Amino acid sequence: MRGWNGSPYRGRSSTRRPGEHTVTEHAERLDGIARGWDEAAEGYEAYYVPRFAPWVEVAVRAIAGALPEGPVLVPCCGTFPELDVLIEYIGDREIVGIDLSAGMVRLATERAARHPRVSVIQGDASTLDPAWTGRCAAVVSVFGLQQLPEPDHAIASWAAALRPGGRLSVVYWPGTTEPDGPFARLAALLDPHDDSWESSLVPALTAQGTVLDRDDNPSFRMTHPDAATFFDAHTLSGPLRPLATSRGRSFITALRTAFLHRSPTGEWHHHPQARHLIAHKP
Ligand SMILES: C[S@@+](CC[C@H](N)C(=O)[O-])C[C@H]1O[C@@H](n2cnc3c(N)ncnc32)[C@H](O)[C@@H]1O
Repeated sequence: MRGWNGSPYRGRSSTRRPGEHTVTEHAERLDGIARGWDEAAEGYEAYYVPRFAPWVEVAVRAIAGALPEGPVLVPCCGTFPELDVLIEYIGDREIVGIDLSAGMVRLATERAARHPRVSVIQGDASTLDPAWTGRCAAVVSVFGLQQLPEPDHAIASWAAALRPGGRLSVVYWPGTTEPDGPFARLAALLDPHDDSWESSLVPALTAQGTVLDRDDNPSFRMTHPDAATFFDAHTLSGPLRPLATSRGRSFITALRTAFLHRSPTGEWHHHPQARHLIAHKP
């Protein structure tokens, strides 16, 4: 599969598993990703947050209902669009967003400002601090998992944070999202990525003592004004910004030309499929 969603860990520059990189290489990669998302943050809020809203709604709705005591964690919260929906469904309780990017955390903190029980932490959500283990009522994450170095390890760490009765709801972009459309066409122009980790997610959840309730593929209509607007948003304000920052302007210019060459004109509609995993800890 190819890396349209921009996972910088599994692209051409690396044939090694993340665990095989040195500590310095790992830290440099995290810095690069954080910088890319810092630069994307304002544009992401304007372009993608409204377009991704139906998936956020589905992810949050899956944990609504009776929850045990404890905080709700939101790894890879970005600008924190999950927050307004969480408040609507679960009301007043401790909610904690975690994101790597200072730019994202700044916007998330603004969104959280009027909610005294909500906080945002800047940090790496791929392995949660052990202080969270067994404490949380729920973990909800949207479109962050596929960005992480070892998504199966990350989801195991999120499941370990649940207390008995706690729920997990994770939506991510799988390697294949659509047969045709802007995501598929962009992916076809990029180097293949290793998405073999996707088959390890359910075993990782069960190994942590959680029970899988659902594994499905929510799909909603997305509309882009035209191919060029999509490309520019995706590379300046979306999942390819970290790649664009690391590969430079000439790479993006060539990619843009190739992408627009065969793209349709006018408004572009598509129905990409995400993957949604819902589990609980008995
Ligand atoms: C596509 S955005 C999703 C944001 C939000 N959940 C939403 O649905 O709009 C992905 C987010 O993952 C964050 N991210 C990437 N790698 C991360 C890591 N290792 N730890 C924490 N956050 C990370 C990025 O900074 C970015 O804000």
